Amino acid sequence: MSNPFRLGVLGSGKGSNFAAIADAIDAGKIPAQVGLVLSDVESAGILLHAREREMAAQFIPPGKFRTKLDEDAERAFVKALQLAKVDLIVLAGFMRVLKGDFLRAFEGRIVNIHPSLLPSFPGLESWKQALDYGVKVTGCTVHFVDAGIDAGAIIGQQTVPVLDNDTPETLHQRIHAAEHELYPKCVAAIARGEISVVGRKVVWKEN
Ligand code: GRF
Repeated sequence: MSNPFRLGVLGSGKGSNFAAIADAIDAGKIPAQVGLVLSDVESAGILLHAREREMAAQFIPPGKFRTKLDEDAERAFVKALQLAKVDLIVLAGFMRVLKGDFLRAFEGRIVNIHPSLLPSFPGLESWKQALDYGVKVTGCTVHFVDAGIDAGAIIGQQTVPVLDNDTPETLHQRIHAAEHELYPKCVAAIARGEISVVGRKVVWKEN
């Protein structure tokens, strides 16, 4: 039997996307296992979720910067993920930008979920940006991570209508629900080797 496909999951927050992926693994919908969950926030819900499921979970202090890891922290993240022998890095609400050495260590093997239909509304609070702009449809995007901000090749997208009476909170909630469907599907396709990347285009194999 070939080795199971292993995920390294990074998150800073409550970890609902991680929980959706872990549930999909348990349900046999993703042929993978979680090798390690890492967080830059000691009290992050994602670490609690992982420990409840008896998965390896570790807090690594991010160092002196606010929006990225410092050099020591970056090295520690890379080392922990390499020791855990992960095949794919899944960013699930990780609130720091990953830089050169990390990107080089896992080139083409890092994915992220973003709460808008990229390339619209990159950056923070995308649901609020969408509401303020007045778009009628928004959604979420799973994409590969490169050196740009929310800029890598798009793997999958799911739309969410914007309703006249939406508040940032109600819209965010519906986007979150869409994320919990989209992210497991995309991770499953990668684990099954069903997608290939041609330039900026991600091609899904016909089932
Ligand atoms: C999600 O909205 C995701 O799009 C963004 O961070 C949030 C993480 O939420 N990248 P959770 O921690 O998975 O609940």
